[in-house]
Amino acid sequence: MKMIKVTKKLRNEDICWCGSGEVYENCHMNSDKKIELYRKKNHVVPPRNIIKTPVQLEGMRKSSIINVAVLDYVSANIKIGMTTEEINTMVYEKTIAMGGVPAPLNYEGYPKSVCTSINEQICHGIPSDKVQIIDGDIVNVDVSTILDGYFSDSSRMFCFGNVSPEMKKLVDVAKECVELGLQQVKPWGFLGDVGQAINDHAKANGFSVVREVGGHGIGLKFHETPYVSYVTRKGTDMLLVPGMVFTIEPMINMGTDEIYIDEYNGWTIYTDDGMPSAQWEIMVRVTEEGHEVMAW
Ligand code: MF3
Ligand code: CO
Repeated sequence: MKMIKVTKKLRNEDICWCGSGEVYENCHMNSDKKIELYRKKNHVVPPRNIIKTPVQLEGMRKSSIINVAVLDYVSANIKIGMTTEEINTMVYEKTIAMGGVPAPLNYEGYPKSVCTSINEQICHGIPSDKVQIIDGDIVNVDVSTILDGYFSDSSRMFCFGNVSPEMKKLVDVAKECVELGLQQVKPWGFLGDVGQAINDHAKANGFSVVREVGGHGIGLKFHETPYVSYVTRKGTDMLLVPGMVFTIEPMINMGTDEIYIDEYNGWTIYTDDGMPSAQWEIMVRVTEEGHEVMAW
């Protein structure tokens, strides 16, 4: 007879599936049992392949160090008058110099090493030597790195010259949204707790939240399960379990939450009303006690 995929059941004294070398009983056994209880109560639970092993976390940590260093380098050098192509060059050169590879480059046909999204561009702005940063612009620089097959991803906003108070507030609120979402990241919480904290804060400030683009699990691939939404409710969506790593990257709009995608390049997403949008992105790990920010 032929057998299709059957899950292996570990015994207490077996070596744990996670590669720690510990016996199952002293490693992931209790966590696995707890997950099973939530699954039986019809909660969405993480598949085992997104619970990172110690070796994978080490690789992701090294990748994240490059990602953060590249963003620090951009922070130190970005200025008015620069083209977004120049930002692309900085990201490419710094990433390569540190031994990494820019994850966006050639990703599903994406042509550049970084995303640079200005004002009404929500995300996936493509660097160009024809686009110059001018006074009053708000710009998101979204950096992602591959090192030894491990992915990292984070982004920051930059304000140039005389940014209007309303736009400055948008940038600040988007950052606060990430911080409030982050506070909800703890084992045996839910992804919906993160989503609601973010959504509530954006709405309380009179802003809207993009629904169609969200965060993602990350590690062995650029984009893994789960999809991290910011329109979910507390107590719903995927159970948070130690060893999960995902991004929190809400896109907050000053006006409508309606969006459209650039017809010509197939990548860049804009606000439908042309009003500005802001985004910060962090990469976070669920720990036994709470969380660890891996990249910002
Ligand atoms: N860095 C983006 C994210 O946060 C992904 C960009 S994909 C690209 O998920 F191809 F546009 F780079
Ligand atoms: Co991301």
